[in-house]
This record gives sequence, C-alpha cells and structure tokens, in this order.
Amino acid sequence: MLDYTGVDGIMIGRASLGNPWIFREIIEFINSGNSVPKPSPKEKITTMLKHLDFEIQDKGEKLAVLEMRKHFGWYMKNMPDAAKIRKWINEIESKEELVKLIKEYFSNL
Ligand SMILES: Cc1cc2nc3c(=O)[nH]c(=O)nc-3n(C[C@H](O)[C@H](O)[C@H](O)COP(=O)(O)O)c2cc1C
Repeated sequence: MLDYTGVDGIMIGRASLGNPWIFREIIEFINSGNSVPKPSPKEKITTMLKHLDFEIQDKGEKLAVLEMRKHFGWYMKNMPDAAKIRKWINEIESKEELVKLIKEYFSNL
C-alpha cells in the first residue's frame, strides 16, 4: 500500500494480536528490506509474562487472567499442541496457575 498508493500510514489491528513483533518486522522491512527472525521461545514467553503483569497492574488479577486467556491463545497460534494448551488456558482462573502452565509448556519445547 505504501508503494502502490503512497499513503502516509497504515493501520495494523488483528495481525498484532499475539504477535506484537509485527511492528519491528515491518519497520525493519521498510528501512532495510530485510526480514527479522521470528521471536525465540524465550523472547515469546518473556513477552507473554510481561503482558500478563501489565494487564494485572491495569485490571487486577481476576479480570486480567480472564482477558489474558484469549491473548495467550493468540500467542500460541501455530505452536505445537496449541489447541490442547488453549483448552487448558481457558479453564485457568489464577495468575499462579497460568504462569505455571506456560512455563511448563515452554520448558518442554
Ligand atoms: C488490537 C487492535 C487495536 C486497535 N487500535 C486502534 C487504535 O488505537 N486506533 C484506531 O484508530 N484503530 C485501532 N484499531 C482498528 C484497526 O487498526 C483498524 O480498524 C484497521 O483498519 C483494521 O486492520 P486489521 O485488518 O489489521 O485488523 C485497532 C484494532 C485492533 C484489532
């Protein structure tokens, strides 16, 4: 769109859900034409846990955990056993359980 129509900006919505790295990927591509490697599992879990903490600071644990179920589901997209993990995530009600599940999952990758 930038090349074809010369627009001043583009909006990115759904593609950022579970993939906040899309912004650095686009910036790098615009600036250098290079692709940025996908985030490593370590970077992914670090971001997920940080996202959870921000959400808890903002909304309190109960609501944050409920809202993070869907975000964690998006982060898990295309990962091994995603459907099974998503089902477990959707039954979780506390930060402690959620963090435990995610850490166990990533340590077994
Ligand atoms: C997570 C998310 C955040 C968004 N934030 C904004 C925003 O801050 N301002 C705005 O005008 N639109 C916002 N939108 C709307 C989209 O940017 C806009 O509708 C866009 O055209 C949809 O693009 P998409 O096909 O990538 O979802 C947001 C949408 C999503 C899903």
